[in-house]
Amino acid sequence: MKITVIGAGNVGATCANVIAHKELANEVILIDIKEGIAEGKALDIWQTAPVNMYDSRVKGFTNNYEPTAGSSVVVITSGLPRKPGMSRDDLIATNAGIVKSVTENVVRYSPDAIIIVVSNPLDVMTYCAYLTARTDSRRVMGMAGILDTARYRAFLAEELGVSPKEIQAMLLGGHGDTMVPLPRYTTISGIPVSEFLPEERIQAIVERTKKGGGELVNLMGTSAWYAPGAAAAQMVEAIVRDQKRVVPVCAWLTGEYGLENIYLGVPVVLGKNGVEKIIELKLNDGEMDLLRKSAAAVKEVCDVLDGMKLFA
Ligand code: NAI
Ligand code: 2OP
Repeated sequence: MKITVIGAGNVGATCANVIAHKELANEVILIDIKEGIAEGKALDIWQTAPVNMYDSRVKGFTNNYEPTAGSSVVVITSGLPRKPGMSRDDLIATNAGIVKSVTENVVRYSPDAIIIVVSNPLDVMTYCAYLTARTDSRRVMGMAGILDTARYRAFLAEELGVSPKEIQAMLLGGHGDTMVPLPRYTTISGIPVSEFLPEERIQAIVERTKKGGGELVNLMGTSAWYAPGAAAAQMVEAIVRDQKRVVPVCAWLTGEYGLENIYLGVPVVLGKNGVEKIIELKLNDGEMDLLRKSAAAVKEVCDVLDGMKLFA
């Protein structure tokens, strides 16, 4: 089993490190366009193997896709991260070209790979990879919901003084300020969150979650990597171990939630075939309204991508 991570920057290297540490594949390939960076980070990660006691072999290459041939799963993290004052959508002009060219190389060498996109703006870059790969939509997906729910769960754990392990949550929509965390589907070991916190505290945590990426950009001057890298690795794990995890994933909608021809965050069953099922929740009018607004925000950026005529 071989897994490839494209982009050996903050998120890509972290993701490769978690994949290796969990022994999700016997070979983990890291690719970057900057000379030496993938080789160096792969070597550094590989040198943790005797300390952390695993044997997944991690190798890095500069812009050479031959060693990626036959990968089962490919994670795409290449592209610019945002800086303070930028939205994820501001990245489209640069990142669309990068994601397109990287995906062309990925499918040339690994036509059967399942592709997980991480680059921003996430929902639109996933659409870009799908348009490039021209494969079954269940095999091209984006990572955002696991990260966004992780932030939401971490904030709740802190507020309640309980283990984050006990907090289950679901979230819908695009990976942006219009994302839709769902308090009605949030439980602490099966007990509704509303039994622990008043409505205004829950709403404050929902708002902090929506801006959770920006909070970190303001602190660090670039975007986050530990939680994003771990979240992408969790998706890889669900696929390679055929775990049938029920997690929020950016998936291609064909009428679910009354939406079609759009990549958007929804609950799915994730297993060896990729997105094996999209779960349709019975949303109330308020939740549905928020989801439609989020879809409209994503669609606006998709129109920018379409306007770039990369696929004419
Ligand atoms: P980074 O700048 O640390 O790493 C990006 C890497 O991509 C760099 O090493 C760069 O050389 C490489 N790269 C650029 N063009 C390439 C190409 N054509 N082929 C191969 N490699 C190429 O950035 P970081 O922090 O790792 O973020 C990566 C992307 O992930 C950004 O677009 C960021 O916005 C996004 N992101 C998405 C998240 C999500 O939840 N979906 C969470 C965090 C980041
Ligand atoms: C994040 O949410 C910037 O998408 C990135 O951290």
